[in-house]
Amino acid sequence: MSITVYPVTPHFAAEVGNIDLCKPLAGADLDVIKDAFWKYAVLIFPEQRLTQEQHLEFSERFGPVEKERTLDPKATPSRFSGEFADISNLAADGKIWGETSRQRLYKAGNKLWHTDSSFKRLPSLCSLLYARTIAPIGGHTEFADQRAAYHALPDATKAKLQGLVVEHWIVHSRRRSGFTEFNEDEMKRLPPVPQVLVRTLPQTGRKSLYVASHAGRIFGMPDDAGRALIDELLAHATQRQFVYTHRWRPNELVMWDNRCTMHRGTDYDDLRSVRDMARVTISDIANSCEQEGIAVAA
Ligand code: OGA
Ligand code: MN
Repeated sequence: MSITVYPVTPHFAAEVGNIDLCKPLAGADLDVIKDAFWKYAVLIFPEQRLTQEQHLEFSERFGPVEKERTLDPKATPSRFSGEFADISNLAADGKIWGETSRQRLYKAGNKLWHTDSSFKRLPSLCSLLYARTIAPIGGHTEFADQRAAYHALPDATKAKLQGLVVEHWIVHSRRRSGFTEFNEDEMKRLPPVPQVLVRTLPQTGRKSLYVASHAGRIFGMPDDAGRALIDELLAHATQRQFVYTHRWRPNELVMWDNRCTMHRGTDYDDLRSVRDMARVTISDIANSCEQEGIAVAA
């Protein structure tokens, strides 16, 4: 039987079946997956038993893998280095993290609506998150469709947003979640970067909002006004009608398009229950301003 694609909603999120991601992927199957991905932006692959190598191999089919972790590994030891972001609540020794651990304080920022790596000059195209062990209660991941959110804006607002450039900075989101302890190495590696506010997706020609809790200022606007507009857009873009809440099952892989979705993790009892997940992050082809043909300073 061939690969199946079952939409979760008519235009956002779909479940892909009859495929074993452990095996080398036929070109035709990859085409089906890519077509579904551009259409639905979130794809769910249930009942996969992936090793880290297999997770990585499948991810590499979508582009170059981000190889550097955001936090300084010396200040924040992690179970993984390089290609894998640890999305668990486990410390480097495999035990549940401590209440005041640096990892825990930093990752609390994942509970704010965001899109991965928009704070990097070369942001992310997509992320692929694999769940080994899930939390018994909570620990869901919510996704918001930024194409639908853009589409729903009044024409006058669309006109106002066109061409605006936003400053994304990891410090903006972490200030909001209460983490301020970036060290010198991290501050140097993670300067504020420009991203366009409305982007066009090359595969479909559809437009999407591109905003996140990493966004802090809008170029050419007073700080307060920019901040207010970002907050207004975040509130608009995360209304229920744009949101799919993913309730995890063990051994499931979910991939999402970071160019046109936001996501956030929901609470769980992270000091008592293990939630073991790892993410591979794929880079986009260029900075979002460059892709829109907007020149920005180096
Ligand atoms: C991520 C992320 C939220 C969650 O993996 O990028 O933000 O549900 N995850 O843990
Ligand atoms: Mn994330």
